[in-house]
Amino acid sequence: MERAVRVGVFCLCLLPFAWLVYAAVGNNLGPDPAEAVMHVTGEWALRLLALTLLVSPLRRWTGWSVLMKMRRMLGLYAFFYGCVHLLAFLQFFIGWTPALVLEELVERPYITVGFAAWLLMLPLAFTSTRAMQRRLRRNWQRLHRLVYPAAVLACLHLLWQARSDVGEALVYIVLFALLLGWRVKRYRDKPGATSAAGA
Ligand code: HEM
Repeated sequence: MERAVRVGVFCLCLLPFAWLVYAAVGNNLGPDPAEAVMHVTGEWALRLLALTLLVSPLRRWTGWSVLMKMRRMLGLYAFFYGCVHLLAFLQFFIGWTPALVLEELVERPYITVGFAAWLLMLPLAFTSTRAMQRRLRRNWQRLHRLVYPAAVLACLHLLWQARSDVGEALVYIVLFALLLGWRVKRYRDKPGATSAAGA
């Protein structure tokens, strides 16, 4: 049963990427394919980050321990979409020109914070295995708290580039505020209760 749920979640998370590839091959990404790729990958990186942080509260409310086993997969998928998003940016926006990367990072604050969010997710992805968890012990929990500033920076990234239409960004900000607020409350009620990535 648990295996079936895992396979199901894995396939569901892969669907947006599969759709992107399918649409790209069929030339069906719309009038601005670069924008479509940035949109789908950015949105799913953020949604999956939110879902990763939703696992712990859901687990507490429902008691379903199987949910915790999905957390790593959801977090890795968030990072995966973040990487495709970054690759799309390098390909479509700056054509792999190193000087332009620096220029964009310095001149566009929303790029700077997006890149910072991705950088914070990097060590989380590389230390997500059980072996690393055992090796780093308490430091693993400390390190994986980086998911919180990563979420804040990702929201800032969205808000900053939303220009006049900030509605969607505000929805994400409220969602992440609730998810982080739940952890602050839990920590206050029971210091030491919050632990790892999305704990
Ligand atoms: C790795 C560094 C990153 C770069 C260089 C980058 C760059 C961009 C660019 C150029 C856009 C499109 C802006 C426009 O349409 O004018 C964008 C949109 C977006 N990005 Fe990023 N981003 C990065 C990281 C992230 C991360 C880590 C997340 C989420 C976890 C994220 C989420 C989003 C979202 C949700 C959008 C809006 C998509 C839309 O609604 O069209 N980005 N990003």
